[in-house]
Amino acid sequence: MPRLISLSQAARMVGVKRSELQNRIQSGELRTFEGAILLSDLLHAYPHAEAEDSSMLDRVGEIMEQAVSKVIRPDHEFPDITACTNRIQALNRELAKARSESRRYRELLENLKLKLQDLDSEDLERDAAFNQLRGWLHEAVQALRAASGEGEDILTREEFPRFMAAKVRVLPSGHEYYIEGANSILEAGLSSGLALNYGCNTGTCGLCKAKVVSGRLKKFCLHDYSLTETEKALGYFLACCNTAASDLVIEAAEAVSTHDIPLQEIEIRVKKIERPDTGTFILRTKTPRTRRLRFLAGQYVSLKLDHLPARDFSIASCPCDDKTLDFHIPTLAGQDISAYLAGTLKVNETLTIRGPRGEFTLDENSTRALVFLACNTGFAPVKSLIEHALSLNTAQQVYLYWIITDDNTPYLGNRCRSWQDALENFHYHPIELASGRLVEDVLPDIIAAVGEVADCDYYVCLPGALLETTEAFLLESGVPSNQLRMEPVRKNASP
Ligand code: FES
Repeated sequence: MPRLISLSQAARMVGVKRSELQNRIQSGELRTFEGAILLSDLLHAYPHAEAEDSSMLDRVGEIMEQAVSKVIRPDHEFPDITACTNRIQALNRELAKARSESRRYRELLENLKLKLQDLDSEDLERDAAFNQLRGWLHEAVQALRAASGEGEDILTREEFPRFMAAKVRVLPSGHEYYIEGANSILEAGLSSGLALNYGCNTGTCGLCKAKVVSGRLKKFCLHDYSLTETEKALGYFLACCNTAASDLVIEAAEAVSTHDIPLQEIEIRVKKIERPDTGTFILRTKTPRTRRLRFLAGQYVSLKLDHLPARDFSIASCPCDDKTLDFHIPTLAGQDISAYLAGTLKVNETLTIRGPRGEFTLDENSTRALVFLACNTGFAPVKSLIEHALSLNTAQQVYLYWIITDDNTPYLGNRCRSWQDALENFHYHPIELASGRLVEDVLPDIIAAVGEVADCDYYVCLPGALLETTEAFLLESGVPSNQLRMEPVRKNASP
């Protein structure tokens, strides 16, 4: 490729004045290109310069290339994501160690100050005081070195992977969550189990409007909804279109009870229909991306299947589950809905849901142990509650008793066992009820196994006919009424 050099460089290189080169340019001996001349032209006009100075120009070129490549690094030169992660982990360990050591040295200084005060009040001779202090300091430093390293692993484990995630604190509730990856403030909040206010999730409705109290936002998409200049000046933003560029404190509306959630009518699409046993259908559906259902874990909706009358079914998925809505529908002998699910309904067809309704929701302010008792497809709302409780991570102990009758099976037993394997505080007990035995027969053992009744919240979902007797039994056993929530297995036509 032809190389261009400036007039000054050319003059230095061949040992002549710039004016001489300009003369040659004017006479047409040298060509110019925007004030520069071609090296080949120069060497042709001054052949003596070739041998000694072309190497110098090569060197200049090399330096320039290196400088450019330092500014614009090609992608392949960046370390891969695993290397970055390892590096961050290593830095995190160093940070944890440095913090730990600095805390110990701060304590040492505090102790040193106290020691000096003591020595002062003991009225010792200066030499004796000095020797005593030196001995004490020597021992204290030895002890500190010996202790160096303790506790760092714990600190490191606790802080990673939070190390890279921004923390969001929501006012007035005080709820906190982390934004990992590039999630929006809204999505990360929903995945963490918060019932934040929202509608479209695409920047159109404005329902996710929130206000920054402190920290920095990063807007990652344009939105149709316009904030007024006053709102912008006050720090309002759309939580579905922004992520955090630093730790944040925001003011945002959250649903604290079922009354805060409006009744909605939404078209959902069938994604899967499974029949894990003869007594159950599992219907998996998705809401449109722009219109998700707002609900609290444990609630139910009325489901309209084609020409059939709408029926109520509990939602088996957690609100943190993005667009997925699962239903566990009991096989109802001789009823049109079973035949419809078994043969007529196909994947990708649309259905209409209306809701949510119901008060079978989690007491999020409680830190008591959670005892869930479900019978057959009564597991549906219980699953939603358990997943929500696990995403909030506030319960000390979680017990699940899944009672199975007749031709049913614990159709998601593997899921329950995986919770138990992964979580120290989760205890799963499937109970197959032998023929002739009643649910009441197993209640005393359950109550005895989970410990003090007053220390537990009970969530019970049984067939309607069993609800009254079970509730009476639990109350008689000492379960406080405000710690008991009962729900019938939903399967009936909507009123
Ligand atoms: S949820 Fe509608 S604008 Fe954010």
